[in-house]
Amino acid sequence: MTDPNEALSRHTDYGIERLDESDLAGDPFAQFQLWLTEAAQRGVYEPNAMVLGTLDSAGILQSRTVLLRQIDERGFAFYTDRESRKGEAIAAHSGATLLFPWYSLHRQVLVTGTVDLVSDDESEAYWQSRPHGSRIAGTASRQSQPIASRTELEERVQALEMRYPEGTDVPRPERWGGYRVAPTRIEFWQGRTSRLHDRLVFTRADADAWSLERLQP
Ligand SMILES: Cc1cc2nc3c(=O)[nH]c(=O)nc-3n(C[C@H](O)[C@H](O)[C@H](O)COP(=O)(O)O)c2cc1C
Repeated sequence: MTDPNEALSRHTDYGIERLDESDLAGDPFAQFQLWLTEAAQRGVYEPNAMVLGTLDSAGILQSRTVLLRQIDERGFAFYTDRESRKGEAIAAHSGATLLFPWYSLHRQVLVTGTVDLVSDDESEAYWQSRPHGSRIAGTASRQSQPIASRTELEERVQALEMRYPEGTDVPRPERWGGYRVAPTRIEFWQGRTSRLHDRLVFTRADADAWSLERLQP
C-alpha cells in the first residue's frame, strides 16, 4: 500500500461475535478478566496495554499508554514515575479514563474512575519484580523532564550500573510507584456487523452493587 487514503477509506465489517446480557459475568471485574484472558489467548499484542486519560491543572486532556499490572475489586493498577506529566495531572484531578483497544478482536473496554496511590508495600513488591535494567532505567530517568541528549541519559545509566551491578538491589526512587483507578463505570464494546455494535455498561450503584445498561451503538 502506498496511498494513505486507502487506510482512511476502509470499511471493515466486524464479524459475528456478540455480547449479550446473558453472556456477561456477574460483575464487571470478572467480565474484564474474562476478556483480558481471551485477548491474551487470541494473540492481542500487549493485551494489558491501556490508554490512560487524565486532565491537567489547566483543564487540558492528556493521554498515553501504560501497562495494567494488577486488577482486583479495588481497581486497575499501573506503575510509573509520580513526578511525570501524568503524575502532575493526577495530583491536580483524580478523575481518569482507561481504554483497552483490542482492535483485532473488534472489542474495546472503557473504564472511568478515580485514581489513588498504590500502597508503598505493593509498589515496592512490584519494583522488586522488575528486571534489573528496568530498575536502573526507572532510576536514571526523571520521566517527562527534558534532557539535553540521549548521551546524557546513557551516561547516567552507566553510572548507576557501576553503583548497582546486576544481582544487587537497586533502591526504588521515592517518586516511583503505582496508581490504581477505582472504576465507577466500565463499558464493554463488541463490534458487530454493519456497525450495529453491542455496548454494555456497568455503573457503580453503591459500594458493592453495579447496575447494567445497554447503549445504542
Ligand atoms: C505499550 C506501552 C506501554 C507503556 N507502559 C508504561 C507504563 O506502564 N508506565 C509508564 O510510566 N509509561 C509507560 N509507557 C510510556 C508512556 O506511554 C508515556 O510515554 C510515559 O509514561 C510518560 O507519560 P507522561 O509524560 O504523560 O507522564 C508505555 C508506552 C507504551 C507504548
